[in-house]
Amino acid sequence: MWCPEGLHEGDAQLLGDIEDKDVLEVGCGSAPCARWLGAHGARAVGLDISAGMLERGLSAMASGGTRVPLVQASAESLPFADASFDIACSAFGAVPFVADSANVMVEVARVLRPGGMWVFAVNHPMRWIFPDDPGPLGLTATIPYFDRTPYVEFDPEGTPTYVEHHRTIGDRVREVVAAGLELRDIVEPDWPEWLDREWGQWSPLRGQLFPGTAIFSCRKPN
Ligand SMILES: C[S@@+](CC[C@H](N)C(=O)[O-])C[C@H]1O[C@@H](n2cnc3c(N)ncnc32)[C@H](O)[C@@H]1O
Repeated sequence: MWCPEGLHEGDAQLLGDIEDKDVLEVGCGSAPCARWLGAHGARAVGLDISAGMLERGLSAMASGGTRVPLVQASAESLPFADASFDIACSAFGAVPFVADSANVMVEVARVLRPGGMWVFAVNHPMRWIFPDDPGPLGLTATIPYFDRTPYVEFDPEGTPTYVEHHRTIGDRVREVVAAGLELRDIVEPDWPEWLDREWGQWSPLRGQLFPGTAIFSCRKPN
């Protein structure tokens, strides 16, 4: 699943043919995507910075289903040789959570083989201007689109527990291009009619008015 709009790789095929391909999932969490890719013929590897999230993936695999290697590391410094993968993908993993997302693009470009695909989903940059509210409050623009100050949550001791970095559409395009990648598409999934569920900031009310997800489809030139 690429995003809360319910776009599924089995239908969308944004990664192209995954059969017998080396596929890296960046910011895999408990690795539902990497495990799905592995179950559908890819040699998938999941990477995440969080040991806790990877533990959940290991527990899920211990209960059955396809097993894939999981690697604990940061997307800012991928522990793989150059040209190791045919495809890299990310569904809301890592990219919005690092200050230097341009470097993530460079790292992914490095580990891709020529002709390889890099497809990553993030919050649509225009969502930044609205409060994270699924109801009417989430329809009024209150935050400047051009303000790149990160959103930070702190614990009672003042330690940051959650940080999310905003980039405009132009920022994201420039980071992809500066890494030597070609930008092929920016997919903005519609809110489907069948989806009447609210989840966090996501709701039919908002989804019918503006996009929530941007999926950047990139390719490393031959
Ligand atoms: C919103 S979750 C998405 C998980 C997964 N892609 C999914 O669809 O279930 C974001 C994930 O990115 C991971 N992450 C955050 N910063 C990272 C970094 N610098 N390198 C690798 N993973 C990171 C987090 O640990 C978390 O598991």
